[in-house]
Amino acid sequence: MVSRVIPVDVFDLVIFGGTGDLARRKILPGLYRRFLSGQMTSDSRIIGAARGELTDADFRKMVSDSIDEFVPKGRRDPAIIEAFLSRLHYVAIDAKGEGGWDNLKSLMRPNVVRAFYFSVAPSLFGDIAARLNTHGVADAQSRIVVEKPFGRDLASARALNAILAEQFAESQIYRIDHYLGKETVQNLMAVRFANILFEPLWKSEYIDHVQITVAETVSVEGRGAYYDKSGAMRDMVQNHMMQLLCLIAMEPPYHFDPDAVRDEKLKVIRALDPVRSEDIVRGQYLAGGGQGGYVAHSENVTSKTESYIALKVNVSNWRWKGTPFYLRTGKRLRARTSEIAITFKEPPHSIFDDAEGWRENVLVIRLQPDEGMNLMVMIKEPGPGGMRLMQVPLDMSFAEALGDEAEDIPDAYERLIMDVIRGNQTLFMRGDEVEAAWAWTDPIINAWEAKGDKPQGYDPGTSGPEDALMLMHRDARRWREIR
Ligand code: BG6
Repeated sequence: MVSRVIPVDVFDLVIFGGTGDLARRKILPGLYRRFLSGQMTSDSRIIGAARGELTDADFRKMVSDSIDEFVPKGRRDPAIIEAFLSRLHYVAIDAKGEGGWDNLKSLMRPNVVRAFYFSVAPSLFGDIAARLNTHGVADAQSRIVVEKPFGRDLASARALNAILAEQFAESQIYRIDHYLGKETVQNLMAVRFANILFEPLWKSEYIDHVQITVAETVSVEGRGAYYDKSGAMRDMVQNHMMQLLCLIAMEPPYHFDPDAVRDEKLKVIRALDPVRSEDIVRGQYLAGGGQGGYVAHSENVTSKTESYIALKVNVSNWRWKGTPFYLRTGKRLRARTSEIAITFKEPPHSIFDDAEGWRENVLVIRLQPDEGMNLMVMIKEPGPGGMRLMQVPLDMSFAEALGDEAEDIPDAYERLIMDVIRGNQTLFMRGDEVEAAWAWTDPIINAWEAKGDKPQGYDPGTSGPEDALMLMHRDARRWREIR
């Protein structure tokens, strides 16, 4: 199989916060990989913009170190790295003042795509957006890219949307949710809408329940100050997990077109029922495995912030009435694994006596690691001895299916940045979608804040708090194992 790399138009990409962590770890190494693949052509340029007084040479050295650190050795070609570095520039900029903006303007070329990546704290979005216009750095076709957290509740998200809308049209604003850039997440849409097989069964009549798991082994050490004000609900559920839920639950859009897709996702968010407090389990990891617990990492001994959350969510519409979605995510769990598991109902009547061997069909979409799909089906247990049933996976691992090319699959950030340059907003959140997600999230968080709800402790290396098991058991269901 030969993958096609279609070069994108020539661009000038300015990264505000160009020396920050995200830029060093993800954005710049990702752009190098796109350069290596030929998708970013050699007449495009990347301009780092940050407060520090760096020269172009300093910035290039920093990026060269990032490539060494974050790009696997086999992908590091000295000549190509050299050519890539020559496409980089740096401008010292004062986001809240006027310094540096005219320099930036003088670097902008006419007739190339201009994109501005705001890899900075949201408190700077307004200042930067306004100065891009007052200094004539942006043009009418420019795109701006903003990162999460996009607000911490509905009011702050609305305020951010309003600030951006003063300067840019919605069609110019790209709100990143990096989960939408993951290969398998997009595959979810391909599987649903490019096959006849699944869609007829894709409803509560045939689907018993859906489980979405994003389990992580990492702690919050080093980012406790941010995380403690956020927690798993704001950090993962309001955005990444909500997006996954939307892609599973949405109606077929009339076309794979940005607004058609986002209209359908928005309808799902609006159809979510409020979540009852008995359908939520919050957890906080304890010390263990030679490491401190959450309160040590967050440096807040009285913290009531959750590092784990499990919840049962109902989508109240014709398609999903009666099929719950169980969501869970947490830090310091047994394994790093993200998956969506769609469990089908029992056949209406069994002609076999082997009730014991029988299991439900489950479609598992693995987001990471080892991206792929797995359909659990029933077959006859091989050999003599009558008709006994067993469950086997129809397994598709992308790494195996794609061979060497799997290494060329762009990571989420790379893909999303290329979409910005192409002007394709399908995989970006629209302002109304983000607001609707907060409108659903706010009452949940407000309720536990009002009653001072304390998360349940859980041991690191487990699958989370005990009570989360009950969330499923009481519905006569089980979580899939985290491994
Ligand atoms: C980020 C969260 O958005 O996503 C982190 O802020 C989380 O807390 C991360 O660890 C998970 O992303 P991924 O791609 O590693 O699953």
